[in-house]
Amino acid sequence: MSTVAAAPTRPLIGEAPPSEAGPRPDGIGDLRPVPEIGLPPALQTLRFSVRQLEFVSRARRELGEVFRMRAMDSDHPVVTTHPDHVRSLFTAKPEQAPSLTGESPLRPIVGPNSVLTATGPRHMRQRKLLLPAFHGEAVQRYVAMIADATEREIDKWPVGEPFALAPRMQAITLDVIMAGIFGIEGRPLPGTPEHRLRQVIRRLVWLSMQPVSQLAELLNIGQDEPRGLLRPAMAMLDRATYAVIAARRAADLEGRNDILSMLLQARDEDGEPLTDRELRDELLTLVLAGHETTANSLAWAFERLVRTPAAYDLLRDAVRSDERREEVVEATIHEAMRNRPVIPVIGRRVTVPWQLGEFGVDAGLPVLISIALLHHREDLYPDPFAFRPERFLGHKPGTYEWIPFGGGIRRCLGATLAMAEQRVVLEAVARRTDLAAADPAPERVLHRNVTMIPALGARVVLRERRAS
Ligand code: HEM
Repeated sequence: MSTVAAAPTRPLIGEAPPSEAGPRPDGIGDLRPVPEIGLPPALQTLRFSVRQLEFVSRARRELGEVFRMRAMDSDHPVVTTHPDHVRSLFTAKPEQAPSLTGESPLRPIVGPNSVLTATGPRHMRQRKLLLPAFHGEAVQRYVAMIADATEREIDKWPVGEPFALAPRMQAITLDVIMAGIFGIEGRPLPGTPEHRLRQVIRRLVWLSMQPVSQLAELLNIGQDEPRGLLRPAMAMLDRATYAVIAARRAADLEGRNDILSMLLQARDEDGEPLTDRELRDELLTLVLAGHETTANSLAWAFERLVRTPAAYDLLRDAVRSDERREEVVEATIHEAMRNRPVIPVIGRRVTVPWQLGEFGVDAGLPVLISIALLHHREDLYPDPFAFRPERFLGHKPGTYEWIPFGGGIRRCLGATLAMAEQRVVLEAVARRTDLAAADPAPERVLHRNVTMIPALGARVVLRERRAS
């Protein structure tokens, strides 16, 4: 069992050549225009939505590390893959590079006013309100609960039969986020509005995995309100969410420190409470952003581990012998999130002229950061497609080179929680189970809404389960 990874023959982490970047108050002057992809806009939009990774990888190969797309229904975004450009956007003044999440496919689902989709002072107010609930100390309260939920889940897995890990991970992460938001210990009790909401979310996540959902997604790009298939699905979700809000409004909030009770008691600068619609947008944002991402990140970690014996052995040995346990678990998570970032792209809109290396970007244009391409730069990560957790042993990921949680004032609010969940689950599964790939071929990437997930949900076979 004790296979230690082969000694690397070249550095496992490198450095990118410097590239000037940032706002250009005097305009873009003689900087070069960004090279454009030459396909029709409809085809580019379709490829970006359905086969994003192949599409941007090819553009990177053919046009270089900065290129421009032509998209339907939006301005033509510039895409960058350089860490210095990332730094310039993450450290920009908020009004010079506001986030594009408000224009993403999430808008018809969570509305325009949640912490994820709002910009400017409204965004900052909501972020400040929610931050304490996701700090390290607050997250520590959930660790025992995450461990219990994981142990219970592992006990249910069938031995010797293929099954998908993603829905199993999702069951754990949904319980965790609902506990935090609604202040429930463990899974909500049948008959409660929270239980109904949990059922609806599980059903909709399953539905969103069906091929017909990709069609619904395309139909909803750039929309304010849901259209097509998404409309009845959202109506069902809304009913369940408003029922939870109504029940909590009627309850005594004294002494409660869960997120919903806190939001119900919050007042804006005019002393007004949040409306039901604002509460709904905020709750759905937290539930949706807060569980599927983490579940799929874990699913990818195992999808990679069961196909990379050296990495899997390194993890199991460390966890079972308790030697360098924390360090190896952390490195494995860092490498999984580098190799398979669940959110492959994020964006900002530059409101002043901007420089990206030798290229100039006019004020008003969207700039996308391809997390996936940045994480696969050969100069930063030699042999970038290989899954090698040892890259991160004794090496902290760079702030602008490893960005699965984004960065700056829009950095993922739940990053500490997501890391804690991944540590606990990865460790428990590595300690108690021996998994094998259901099929030796790597799982295809499926793009769903803003996420990139394993197409078959990380199908594995449980060879052996140890007692808890
Ligand atoms: C592995 C799991 C996760 C990944 C990969 C992930 C990734 C991201 C990314 C890339 C962003 C956009 C950052 C940017 O534009 O710079 C984001 C934002 C956000 N995430 Fe996460 N996330 C995860 C888990 C969570 C969890 C557990 C929560 C809990 C509620 C959460 C809540 C949010 C919120 C509220 C925002 C918006 C922050 C803002 O705009 O100020 N995420 N996340």
